[in-house]
Amino acid sequence: MQPTPRHLLSAADLSAAETSLLLDCAARLKRRPQRLLEGRQLALLFEKPSLRTRVSFQVAMRHLGGETIYLAPQEVGLGEREAIKDVARVLGRYVDIVAVRTYGQEIVEEYAGYSTIPVINALTNEEHPCQALADLLTVREKLGADLRGVSLAFIGDGNNVSASLVVTAASLGMDVRMASPKGYMLPESVVSEAAARAAAQGGKLTLVVDPVEAVTAAQVLYTDVWTSMGQERESERRRIDFAGYQLNRELVAKAASGALVMHDLPAHRGEEITDEVIESPQSIVFDQAENRVWAQAAAVAFLLGLAGQIDG
Ligand code: CP
Ligand code: NVA
Repeated sequence: MQPTPRHLLSAADLSAAETSLLLDCAARLKRRPQRLLEGRQLALLFEKPSLRTRVSFQVAMRHLGGETIYLAPQEVGLGEREAIKDVARVLGRYVDIVAVRTYGQEIVEEYAGYSTIPVINALTNEEHPCQALADLLTVREKLGADLRGVSLAFIGDGNNVSASLVVTAASLGMDVRMASPKGYMLPESVVSEAAARAAAQGGKLTLVVDPVEAVTAAQVLYTDVWTSMGQERESERRRIDFAGYQLNRELVAKAASGALVMHDLPAHRGEEITDEVIESPQSIVFDQAENRVWAQAAAVAFLLGLAGQIDG
């Protein structure tokens, strides 16, 4: 019998201690890339488009001496051309680890249930844990490794990016604030997970409707698109519902002076964020994108049981 593999399907799959450990590993790999994954293969099974996630996984594996195989949306037909449980068991015979980008969270969960190798959520409708790890790695680089009490305000949709972000930030003891219009708040399960983690780590979780309340004196500001992949038919409605939630000069002025501005990208400039704010010196969006490489390198090493071998 093979041992049950460790998966990263949700930010909550990592304990608070593991979250910190993984960020330490990412920082060490960034300082000193090492060939930990010689001969290891990662499959990228993607059902939605991607720039950052795909390329950063490919580059991460290269840095660590491993290889990748990319499967584009039209190729596999997960659950359509072939049953999820068959795809999972077949890929497990070829590669050592798989990153899946798909629609519902239940798809990666079903996949992982049949997988003999670790499965990484490379974005679902509900979660984007790799993004959150890279984001907090970036904040640690800017503000120091101990983020307890540091205030982070997310302005916008209770979507995949904010769900993983609030759980990860709460695990680090941050003062997490989230402002969303009514009807677009995070699911209750995410709120209770993040609140419990924040309480355990001496942090805080505050959910409000008013974006000004959330950003007041905040040290880190974060936003994401109002319409995510797969929701395109709702975009007109969402533009109306999210009016007033744009990260613009006026909102940034209410935050702490020099507050960091974050966005996972791609951005819809002129909707959730202005061109001026994303191009401002406070913006760290490209540092976030760069750090996807190191956060994911650490995640792969961790899930393959190799974190203990990282030097430095
Ligand atoms: N931020 C992010 O995941 O970007 P991609 O959709 O381009 O991978
Ligand atoms: N919330 C966005 C994130 C893209 C990286 C989406 O799901 O489309």
